[in-house]
Amino acid sequence: MNNNSLYNFIYNHVKNNPISFHMPGHKGRDLFKKYGIADMKHLLPCGDITEIPGADNLFSPEDTILSGQNAYSKLYGSKKTFYSVNGSSAALMAAIFSSCSNGGKAIVARNCHRAVFNAVRLWNIVPIYAFPDEITTLGSRVTGGEIESLLLKNPDTEAVIITSPDYYGNCCDIKTISDTVHSHGAYLIVDEAHGAHLTLFHKNTDNPAILSNSCRLPGGAVEQGADFVINSTHKTLASFTQSAVLNVATDKIPDEVLLDRLQLLESSSPSYLLMLSLELNAVLLENEGNNIFSNWLKDLNNFYERVRNMEKVFVYIPEALYDFTKINLAIGDLSGAEVSLRLNEYGIFPELDSGNFTMMMSGIGNIRSDYEHLLKSVADISKTASKPVLPEPVDSIYLNHPEYRAIPKKAVPVHYSKSSGHVSALSIVPYPPGIPLLCPGEVITQNTVETIKKLIAKPTFISGIDTNGMIFTDGGKTG
Ligand SMILES: Cc1ncc(COP(=O)(O)O)c(C=O)c1O
Repeated sequence: MNNNSLYNFIYNHVKNNPISFHMPGHKGRDLFKKYGIADMKHLLPCGDITEIPGADNLFSPEDTILSGQNAYSKLYGSKKTFYSVNGSSAALMAAIFSSCSNGGKAIVARNCHRAVFNAVRLWNIVPIYAFPDEITTLGSRVTGGEIESLLLKNPDTEAVIITSPDYYGNCCDIKTISDTVHSHGAYLIVDEAHGAHLTLFHKNTDNPAILSNSCRLPGGAVEQGADFVINSTHKTLASFTQSAVLNVATDKIPDEVLLDRLQLLESSSPSYLLMLSLELNAVLLENEGNNIFSNWLKDLNNFYERVRNMEKVFVYIPEALYDFTKINLAIGDLSGAEVSLRLNEYGIFPELDSGNFTMMMSGIGNIRSDYEHLLKSVADISKTASKPVLPEPVDSIYLNHPEYRAIPKKAVPVHYSKSSGHVSALSIVPYPPGIPLLCPGEVITQNTVETIKKLIAKPTFISGIDTNGMIFTDGGKTG
């Protein structure tokens, strides 16, 4: 095998027993075996089947797949659930294609994931941007007041699309937003890709609060009245990467329409192994939910109690509307990127860093010893940090408030430094968190140019810009 093969990389990574505080939620642990539900090892590769008789069909579910999907409806309290083998990305797009007419109008929170803007582009949606109007240390959130004022100005809005929680754990007041949206006769779509566990914490623990009730974990979006809720069960729960569920809480859209839209966006050879992992994840949550979520909560409580007393360590715990399963911390004068690298040396892999924060995404597969190792490593690293912590607010790059015009018909290459005044023809998306800095159709300002310059200097991985700094615009013709 070639030394720089993917096989070698994965083999060696696994051999080193890494401690994962990143996706997927199972953290590389065989939870289905641990809890006596199934031994998937016997099914590789022979369980990689296709639509043979009895296996059911993802796009016309009647039997095994239907019963698995029904198990999710029960767990989340939705009317219907559909599996996605193309992540929350396809599920989100299918929800938008089902609730909006092609060419219709939608209110879109500008801090949404790129999949939402892809849907806007493919379905010719007229987007009305909702700019997050409540700024937190770690990002921002859209409020009901902002949505209400946009709905009043745009009575022909068919759907409102928001993200909650975001990558850092900021959540919206979904109950207020859903009441507002429904009073205007529109649908509410909530991208809860990062919050598949929220409903389950509420179901399975008496008091989903942390640190003597100082921060209560928000409930799930279905119970707060959203019509479509998209959950990446792979991000924090136990199903495999690329599997997700679309929870539908309205009965106004026929199944045939939803299935048609899902089929537009997914492979015609959906992986039965992914679907199997979705089914087993539901069984795990049904059988062991109580045990798993109580332990997860205890582990987090223990972690937060101890980490917040550490010198030179700042851990982010706002009072409300926050998903604290995402652990955001800053150490002394170190940048988030430095902290991530130092943690890697201790065999710990965080999910992301931004500014001077590093985010550890906990999940269903983490065990007490992971948190203990993290505590010890953070304590060690903090000894070498010199100055006390002064956490900087994380850059909310999309807060440049870009103006949307129309998507250019042609894509002309131009150096980003000369692009002010042009209209973007492709997306420019820094990772993480995958929120577009620019969507196609948006006007590039000098502010945007400066932001790109800063991101390149960091350096950050940015999709939509090449190593020479070239991007694609209308060539300055539209404006
Ligand atoms: C907020 C948000 N929504 C949706 C997605 C897409 O989810 P998936 O990877 O399951 O397609 C992501 C991906 O990270 C995300 O961060």
